[in-house]
Amino acid sequence: METNKKKLTTASGIPYAENENSMTVGPRGPILLQDFILHEKMAHFNRERIPERVVHAKGSGAYGTFTVTHDISKYTRAKLFNYIGKQTKTFLRFSTVGGEKGSADTERDPRGFALKFYTEEGNWDLVGNNTPVFFVKDPKKFSDFIHTQKRDPYTNCKSPTMMWDFWSLNPESLHQVTILMSSRGTPYGYRHMDGFGSHTFSMINAKNERHWVKFHFKTQQGIKNFTGDEASAMRGVDPDFAQHDLLHAIDSGDFPKWALKIQVMTEEQAKTYQWNPFDLTKVWPHADFPLIDVGVLELNQNPDNYFAHVEQSAFAPAHVVDGIGYSPDKMLQGRLLSYPDAHRHRLGANYEQIPVNRCPFAVNNYERDGQMRVDGNYGSSPNYFPNSFDDIVADEHYKEPSWDLGTSLAGWYDRNAEGENDHYTQPGNLYRLMSDDEKHELVKNITGAMSGIEGPKRELIINRQLCHWFRADIGLGMAVAKGLQVNTDEAMKAMAGYV
Ligand code: HEM
Repeated sequence: METNKKKLTTASGIPYAENENSMTVGPRGPILLQDFILHEKMAHFNRERIPERVVHAKGSGAYGTFTVTHDISKYTRAKLFNYIGKQTKTFLRFSTVGGEKGSADTERDPRGFALKFYTEEGNWDLVGNNTPVFFVKDPKKFSDFIHTQKRDPYTNCKSPTMMWDFWSLNPESLHQVTILMSSRGTPYGYRHMDGFGSHTFSMINAKNERHWVKFHFKTQQGIKNFTGDEASAMRGVDPDFAQHDLLHAIDSGDFPKWALKIQVMTEEQAKTYQWNPFDLTKVWPHADFPLIDVGVLELNQNPDNYFAHVEQSAFAPAHVVDGIGYSPDKMLQGRLLSYPDAHRHRLGANYEQIPVNRCPFAVNNYERDGQMRVDGNYGSSPNYFPNSFDDIVADEHYKEPSWDLGTSLAGWYDRNAEGENDHYTQPGNLYRLMSDDEKHELVKNITGAMSGIEGPKRELIINRQLCHWFRADIGLGMAVAKGLQVNTDEAMKAMAGYV
């Protein structure tokens, strides 16, 4: 053997003599049990797959840098924003939502925009989408909704019937469905779309004052979408279109950028604003809450191994850093607990030690042991608190101001009660803002998707959803009815018993 070559070894470092032929009794005889290297190879291979994400399974990721360009210290004391020019390392994972790990990148779907900032005061995960709103406003509905986007239990196929049944029964979804059915539902890869924190979050400044905020990442590459037909065609040509596009851009030095901007609402404004500021199915119109510049995010490094970095990445909306806080948005509240639970299931109890997830700064606590503990487990230092030996303390300066929740009555409140049930004005406004071409494409996509509804409840589901399009905008309702060849007079008579 040439001396400058590395020796092939087992996982425990023992050099192999032979890697292509198993040890046998004679050239034509059976394999010996003692060829444990064969067993090791087969056994490790059998364990290569980990559970795919229950949603957002197909994705692409890259490392980058966030640079502060504007002073927002009057809103937040978060250290990552504390001077102009400050840079923070980031990792961003994009994804589609409903498809499996091997599904096509150009499916009509929202896109995930999950961003990790490795800040000196811990990792901040902003786990958003390319849309500012969502389909439902209570986390109890999330799993039901997702089931309608996945495979039918009987046919094992995607089912437009399930999707439109759910959407038509949950008119709060209309705003997000309108965006989904527009060309923004089929972005041209991941570089040409915006990202949104979507929820309302809070910022806390040095005086311990709270403001409500929304986060927006505006693509500097310009918005570019596939038409529905182009997206369908690309599914066959290159199902990994978005992965190739991102990878090649970064490899060739064409680093994609997004401008981070925020919208800010005072606690006083929130009390009287016409829309519930914590309702994830609503936007804060820019005319009322203009965008404020913050900084620039640039993606500039492809991970050298997809599984190690992208598949094992784990983002949690609960992970905010000092100066940034939650809000009473019910969906955000549900997500605070759901994600770390998903990570423990998918990656194990010590998933925070995986390099892509690990905080590169201080981590001190009394969590110990568990499967795959690979960081030394804090050696001989105490594993309980309080103790008389170390000097680890909980620092009260990080406490945020108390929340005034206005009531102490606990109960199951209807999310869509009077005053919270205008599902139509904002999607209608969105439709009316569209150009004629965009309206045409939207109607084509809606009618194409709704044509897939089948079975005994077909007419009921179509008519129920048509009512929602009409309520958003008469012109939109008429166009969809025409596209579906529905006789609206007959449909209204048929629906009289239901609405
Ligand atoms: C109550 C509502 C929701 C629940 C319970 C929920 C739950 C989950 C779960 C369990 C995962 C898989 C996590 C993993 O295995 O690593 C996930 C992924 C994800 N969710 Fe949600 N989700 C909700 C709503 C939302 C909303 C509103 C957004 C965006 C505004 C969103 C964006 C994402 C993204 C981007 C990912 C992929 C993260 C990654 O790239 O690893 N989700 N969600």
